[in-house]
Amino acid sequence: MSSPEGGERDGAFRVLIPAEEIQKRIREMGRQITEDYQGRRIVLISVLKGGFIFLADLIRHIALPLDVDFIAASSYPTSSTSTGTVRFVMDAEIEIQGRDVLIVEDIVDSGLTLEMICGRLMTRRPASLKVCTLLNKSSRRVAQVSVEYSGFDIEDYFVIGYGLDYAERFRNLPDIGIVDDLEESLKRDLEKERVCV
Ligand code: PRP
Repeated sequence: MSSPEGGERDGAFRVLIPAEEIQKRIREMGRQITEDYQGRRIVLISVLKGGFIFLADLIRHIALPLDVDFIAASSYPTSSTSTGTVRFVMDAEIEIQGRDVLIVEDIVDSGLTLEMICGRLMTRRPASLKVCTLLNKSSRRVAQVSVEYSGFDIEDYFVIGYGLDYAERFRNLPDIGIVDDLEESLKRDLEKERVCV
């Protein structure tokens, strides 16, 4: 279902963080990163898939020379709850030895994905390794990971939009929100699609 605001949107969608607020916070984060890494050239590594939109917006507010690369991992194969197993999908190719690296995540939940990614990247001996996440569910943490830049600390909602999906849908919503009865809504949509075919 598409909406005039852009992006597909379900009827039961409730906005948690509106697009304007996301953009305002990203501007602040970009300014802070620019200040903290003054005089250095950093490497930003975005965690796919969810982190790609945040990375694209964030780098436009960082006034420093920088490199971009991607890493891919998956922790919620088909459902809305973490299974506790992280699947490593794709590694970053850039040479990071001796470089200042910033991992860019859309959300840190249990911290298991980040723990796995940091562990892998540390073996490549970067000069520094820090984490920047748009959303942080700090109350859900299982793994002890440090997050140096955090956009919004949120409660334990299953959130979608702005890169975050449910069963690969809704990444294109400009806002971040919650869908009540997400599984029911999706089932209804799938039924509709079957009827259309
Ligand atoms: C999400 C998100 C983080 C991870 C956080 O990715 O993008 O990478 O989960 O969860 P954790 O802290 O409990 O490990 P997901 O596995 O849903 O894959 P996706 O980005 O491809 O949607």
